Amino acid sequence: MDRPSDRTPQLLLLVAGAKGAIGTTLAATVAAMQKTPQLVLPGLTTADKFLFLGECPSVAMAGWDKSDDEIIGAIARHGVLPEEMWRPHESRLARLSVFNAPDATCTMAEQVKQLRADIRQCRKRHPDARPVMVNLLPAAYDISDPARYTTVDQLLSKAGTGILPDLAYVVAAIGAGIPVVNFTPNTVELPAICDLAVAKGVPIAGRDGKTGQTYFKVVLASALKARGLYVDGWYSLNILGNADGLNLMDPDHARGKLNNKTHLLDDILGYPVGERYGRSAHKVHIDYHPPRGDAKEAWDVIDIRGIFGMPMSLRLNLQGRDSILAAPMALDLARWAAALQAAGFAGPVPDLGFYFKKPVGSDAPVTFENQLAALDRLESRIESRIHERSHGNR
Ligand SMILES: NC(=O)c1ccc[n+]([C@@H]2O[C@H](COP(=O)([O-])OP(=O)(O)OC[C@H]3O[C@@H](n4cnc5c(N)ncnc54)[C@H](O)[C@@H]3O)[C@@H](O)[C@H]2O)c1
Repeated sequence: MDRPSDRTPQLLLLVAGAKGAIGTTLAATVAAMQKTPQLVLPGLTTADKFLFLGECPSVAMAGWDKSDDEIIGAIARHGVLPEEMWRPHESRLARLSVFNAPDATCTMAEQVKQLRADIRQCRKRHPDARPVMVNLLPAAYDISDPARYTTVDQLLSKAGTGILPDLAYVVAAIGAGIPVVNFTPNTVELPAICDLAVAKGVPIAGRDGKTGQTYFKVVLASALKARGLYVDGWYSLNILGNADGLNLMDPDHARGKLNNKTHLLDDILGYPVGERYGRSAHKVHIDYHPPRGDAKEAWDVIDIRGIFGMPMSLRLNLQGRDSILAAPMALDLARWAAALQAAGFAGPVPDLGFYFKKPVGSDAPVTFENQLAALDRLESRIESRIHERSHGNR
């Protein structure tokens, strides 16, 4: 008779940007889970959910990157984890398949072809696993007019730097029936891609992981709104010294992220912050500060008013760690995506708004309490559909 671990399918993370700060932290997380799950599982929101996917540690990972570093070298270079945390898992980490990124000068059709061949190899290696594409590429220019690509064929004929590299990964995954988690601020959820996802029966979760400052902003703004405290101004500053921080110094690359960080406050409160002054009083600054590495620091100064317009204020100082916050979320999201697909959900999933700065799809919940409630409802819907399916199959 099969042992339970022989029957349970594994989750297979297919990571675009596998040698980046989050990608390597995710790799170390997946490796550590096999030996020392107690270091990781308490930090996951899905550890006790979706057990039909298999035990939580039952995860494999592969991916793509354009860096020539060995994965071990990349882990050391990012310096997210002290060596004693990842060295015991070195041999497992070294076995991870990281393919070369497709050549961006080729057409997207050629890039997708290469990626599909790589995906087939990964599937052969892990035949029982449920694959999920996790997009961890760098923040890129914002596609201000996503509607201009009305068909996937239009995308496939494009080549070169004028097109978001993420799109090749997303099209390859969806074409292969693989769900997508878009952790980046990049707009991959073009109408044509969403239509393809629905046709192929794959969910898309995104976009822009809500890891640190913005997560606490949503919590606090929701709490202030619930108490009828008027937000007069919100000043947010971030310093970070990793590659993401350096990349965000390019205003074109930062635009999408800054928009995502800014808009959600007005949406939660239901009024534009700064309306009294005739200009926005919600400011968000990101500054690259090399000495900090991945140890990001964020400050928020929040000006509020109570009855009689009496002013008060609040200060928040987060001394975070970017990739330590992000990696478990990426893993959680992959589990959600796999569970959603198993339950027959397809297309963008706005009810995953808890995890994202800019949830895709219409009617995404905006306040913290609504985001939590939406997650609970989504989990119940998944469980009941899985239950119905397994009974229907008897
Ligand atoms: N860390 C956080 O808290 C957080 C929060 C929200 C969103 N994000 C987003 O997550 C993404 C990843 O962040 P990170 O800190 O790991 O970034 P990173 O710059 O460290 O990693 C990106 C990786 O992608 C690789 N890459 C670049 N172009 C590629 C291509 N065409 N194909 C394959 N690989 C390619 C790079 O070589 C690098 O290894 C970024 O878009 C970031 O904005 C991060």
